[in-house]
Amino acid sequence: MGDLEALKAGYLDQVASAGDEAALEAVRVAALGKKGEISLKMRDLGKMSPEERKSAGAALNAVKDAIADAIAQKKDAMADAALDERLKGEWLDITLSPRPVQPPMAGGTLHPISQVTEEVIAIFADLGFAVKEGPQIEADFYNFDALNIPAEHPARQEHDTFYMAPKADGTRHVLRTHTSPVQIRTLEKEGAPTRFIAPGRVYRSDYDQTHTPMFHQVEGMVIDKDISMANLKWVLEEFCRAFFEVEAVELRFRASHFPFTEPSAEVDIRCSWEGGQLKIGEGDGWLEILGSGMVHPKVLAACGVDPQIWQGFAFGVGIDRIAMLKYGIPDLRAFFDADLRWLRHYGFAALDMPSVAAGLSR
Ligand code: DAH
Repeated sequence: MGDLEALKAGYLDQVASAGDEAALEAVRVAALGKKGEISLKMRDLGKMSPEERKSAGAALNAVKDAIADAIAQKKDAMADAALDERLKGEWLDITLSPRPVQPPMAGGTLHPISQVTEEVIAIFADLGFAVKEGPQIEADFYNFDALNIPAEHPARQEHDTFYMAPKADGTRHVLRTHTSPVQIRTLEKEGAPTRFIAPGRVYRSDYDQTHTPMFHQVEGMVIDKDISMANLKWVLEEFCRAFFEVEAVELRFRASHFPFTEPSAEVDIRCSWEGGQLKIGEGDGWLEILGSGMVHPKVLAACGVDPQIWQGFAFGVGIDRIAMLKYGIPDLRAFFDADLRWLRHYGFAALDMPSVAAGLSR
């Protein structure tokens, strides 16, 4: 037995000191391989008497298992060490230290379009208007047909529409070219009477100093039993006085044509340009700010509202246009340049919500 213990100890030493996989494999072959020392001893068991074989066999098996276990453990340890070594070599620092944030930008600012939209909502909320929204990807029907702009109507060309691919049934969607489809959606759903504005993004394929493919409008609509152009004029004057924050404004109603209103008027505001400074409410200049009119009976009828009973006005204002006028921004395209210095220059504090009572823009 003493021999066996010494044999085992010898092989365990060799396993422990094996420096690589090849050395380990050599130890395995020497001990447990077909002609290995332990295997040969196993073969000798056959020559023994049954009693001898029983005890010697058990002892030999124990030695064989001990050596096999030690080899397996050593193999695992070598594999782990090799992996560690590889990971050390392949390690890559994917972190990037952040750019330090300058204190003035840390809190962010409101974009002038957001600011002006909030101002417009505050003014009309004060006049009892609700705020409605509609989808920017709009059915052809809502953007045109229901607004009395049938297929082949010349107004469709004027809108420079972005069309989506037609569906299998031939209908197609468009990026809405104005906020007027929200008139239809709201009337259809809620009927008359109604009084709301609908601010939002609109799209036309056009690009220069005063046109961008995406811009903003706010639609307004009032339908009741006793509404006239006089109400329209008062509401728009009230709005302009509050929005431009001047005592007196003068509006000029110019006869115009929109398929969805009759009569229709484009509205200009009196202003002066002196030394590159725009002043609202004085001077000899006029700037167009919106389209408006009495809602066409066909539009009401298309929404299931009886034009014999109900009538009203609607208007559409360019939000970007009035933002440029109020805050003296000369180029529309700057709105969408995402230039942080520009934003900081015009930026409005995010928590300064405009209100008519507290002052809109302060
Ligand atoms: N939808 C028109 C446009 O985008 C603007 C407009 C004109 C809206 C007259 C109205 C309106 O509601 O009554 O050019």
